Amino acid sequence: MSTKNDTKMEYGDFQTPDILCDKICSLLSDLNVTPNSVVEPTCGTGAFLRASAKAFPDCRQILGFDINPNYVLASQTAEPALVQCEDFFEKDWPSTLASLKEPILVLGNPPWVTNAAVGMMSGKNLPKKSNFHRLNGFDAITGKSNFDISEWMLLHLLQWLSGSSAVLAMLCKTVVARKVLQYAWSKRFQIKTSATYSVNALEHFGASVEACLLVCILEPGANSQECEIYGDLDESIAHSRFAFRNGRLVANLNAFERYGYLYGRSPVKWRSGIKHDCSRVMELRDCGAQSFRNGFGEIVELEPTYLYPMLKSSELAKEDSEPARFMLVTQRNVGEDTSSIQHKAPRTWDYLAKYAEYLDSRSSSIYRKRPRFSIFGVGPYAFSSWKVAISGFYKKLQFRAIGPADGRPVVFDDTCYFLPCQSKDEARELLKLLNSQAAKGFFDSVIFWDAKRPITADVLGILNLGALSSELGVSLPGQVGRTMELPLWQSHGPRMTGEGL
Ligand SMILES: C[S@@+](CC[C@H](N)C(=O)[O-])C[C@H]1O[C@@H](n2cnc3c(N)ncnc32)[C@H](O)[C@@H]1O
Repeated sequence: MSTKNDTKMEYGDFQTPDILCDKICSLLSDLNVTPNSVVEPTCGTGAFLRASAKAFPDCRQILGFDINPNYVLASQTAEPALVQCEDFFEKDWPSTLASLKEPILVLGNPPWVTNAAVGMMSGKNLPKKSNFHRLNGFDAITGKSNFDISEWMLLHLLQWLSGSSAVLAMLCKTVVARKVLQYAWSKRFQIKTSATYSVNALEHFGASVEACLLVCILEPGANSQECEIYGDLDESIAHSRFAFRNGRLVANLNAFERYGYLYGRSPVKWRSGIKHDCSRVMELRDCGAQSFRNGFGEIVELEPTYLYPMLKSSELAKEDSEPARFMLVTQRNVGEDTSSIQHKAPRTWDYLAKYAEYLDSRSSSIYRKRPRFSIFGVGPYAFSSWKVAISGFYKKLQFRAIGPADGRPVVFDDTCYFLPCQSKDEARELLKLLNSQAAKGFFDSVIFWDAKRPITADVLGILNLGALSSELGVSLPGQVGRTMELPLWQSHGPRMTGEGL
């Protein structure tokens, strides 16, 4: 049964205070926005309708819509606006917009809720599947499984307005504004200028999320792919610009104009650390004499065969930290049969069998129909003796060269990224390149530092290490790009000293 709070969440029901709507409308006036028609597609209790009636007295028509009949009644007092009860996802927007006198201003604050959250509440406030899939390429950008419903609304509105003289001015999460622009730019919607103005969502809506006012000015034939970023609604000078270049977003256009020549492909793929989703079983501390303590506090005796020293993201992020535990690495390649563990390391097999209920009940679907005790993020690269690695958990560009510990390659958890190297020299050379001013300048130009996880394998992979090495006059380490040979660690086993690890 859904609660009152669920309903509020499902409909993204957070009304914008009058003071903020007035400020936004006066900013639009300052930008010389003079609409003949105003539309508020999810008008709630009508704050934007009232503010636009004041700010644009010459406007011929102000229309408001909301799904909630009580809000429609409340906002009918916002004269001279015409308000109707409509479901955004059912309305024939192309005909409605085509019937309006241009320039059209579409403004408001669509619901801030994801389709996954609506689904969890067994809600129905979602786009119809058929409509959703009609927009080619949308899936690819938003990820099929999760998107903000405001994102769906905004990019459809832009699509329907493209080719008209119009302005879209909407409050939304900053990540939503970026995704919407990325899509609009990739589809070459006819946008003349775009800007975002930071808005304090905590102060106005009690929500701790980065939010902004997105303003897109559309004009027939226009084709801008840049967005100015303003600190807040009072700022008159943009502090930077993000843009669409080479088919992707770049976070700081000025910096990208300087360092964009380093854009390309890394000759060797950035890899993620190992994913096992069961740290209490798979990560163990050394207690000496081949005994280890797992996450349940149990001391177990295991053969060294499948144990590798590991660094977690938080440890990798600390300079000079040493591996403090081991990871049970049950496979050398994704999908490898695990039954041979029983013969090669019977104590390890018994241990895995004892804790099988935890491993078998891992919720991610990637483990289904895989050999028992499977892990991911394994391949020859995971066992390379040297690696240049970075934690993807923090907002800092700190690369480290990590060599073997007690003769065993060090592995990472799946929130770390690394380039496999075959020697200490190769790792040091790569580290020099990645720590150079040019590499830092390039990464700063493409990384959105305010994102939840700014550092990803994807963004690391677009630094062209070849171009960087020629620029710095450093030769690219010889082994980079070559296929790694799998070392025979499993026949040697680690040297367990019980000290230092
Ligand atoms: C964040 S509130 C903003 C309300 C108003 N725009 C404002 O700025 O004060 C989102 C509004 O969207 C409305 N809404 C949610 N889903 C809707 C839908 N499918 N169609 C129309 N309105 C919807 C809610 O009732 C709510 O009033």
